[in-house]
Amino acid sequence: MSESQLWEDVDAYFISHLTPDDPALDAALRESEAAQLPPVNVTANQGKLLQLLAQIQGARTILEIGTLGGYSTIWMARALPADGRLVTLEYSARHAEVASRNLARAGLDALVDVRVGPALESLPKLADENPAPFDLVFIDADKGNNPHYLEWALKLTSTGSLIVIDNVVREGRVADPDDTADDVRGTRAAIELIGAHPRLSGTAIQTVGGKGYDGFALARVLA
Ligand code: SAH
Ligand code: DHB
Ligand code: MG
Repeated sequence: MSESQLWEDVDAYFISHLTPDDPALDAALRESEAAQLPPVNVTANQGKLLQLLAQIQGARTILEIGTLGGYSTIWMARALPADGRLVTLEYSARHAEVASRNLARAGLDALVDVRVGPALESLPKLADENPAPFDLVFIDADKGNNPHYLEWALKLTSTGSLIVIDNVVREGRVADPDDTADDVRGTRAAIELIGAHPRLSGTAIQTVGGKGYDGFALARVLA
């Protein structure tokens, strides 16, 4: 058996026991596929991890950068109280439309605000609104901008907030000095910023599973 087949089988085993089929999440994936969105959503296990992290945070406000079809959005928004809020930023109007339909079907449209446009344009607009600090930020868009997204996340959070960055390993490319692709450089810059920043305490965890070999960075905002 290939290594990646083994990772998928183990993921399937965990998913079968820990994240049972759910009509709204299943429909979100089906509709995303029908609309030919790239299948790069988090796995069910990873979505559940994001939901648990939001719950551990006691999150009332969540910011997501990179909506796609709203799959990770649904996982996180379900952790919010009835008066909570999730703002999710998406470059593609087409992706955002699919996400909005998926969120409405999940009964989450009142909690979630999908904003269309390049996140680096949406973020200053959001900051101008002086929102309450976000308790959780999930960064999962164009990886080349990860250091900029991290800087914005710092502006939009406060002590105790958690920042999560997806796709920080990319099959090990992050640690290959010969790999100077934009996404890898952006991710490296974000990791190094976390390590050097006096207001951040972070780590990064390698993962294998249905989405191959990748990982998450987590950073807690200090005083
Ligand atoms: N979080 C999603 C997956 C996001 S995929 C999930 O796990 O379900 C990355 C998304 O980021 C894509 O939809 C892509 O269109 C979007 N994106 C790419 N560049 C962007 C930018 N500059 N601003 C905002 N979104 C961007
Ligand atoms: C890919 C995976 C992701 O989780 C993502 O956010 C963007 C792209 C990919 O596998 O290409
Ligand atoms: Mg991702």
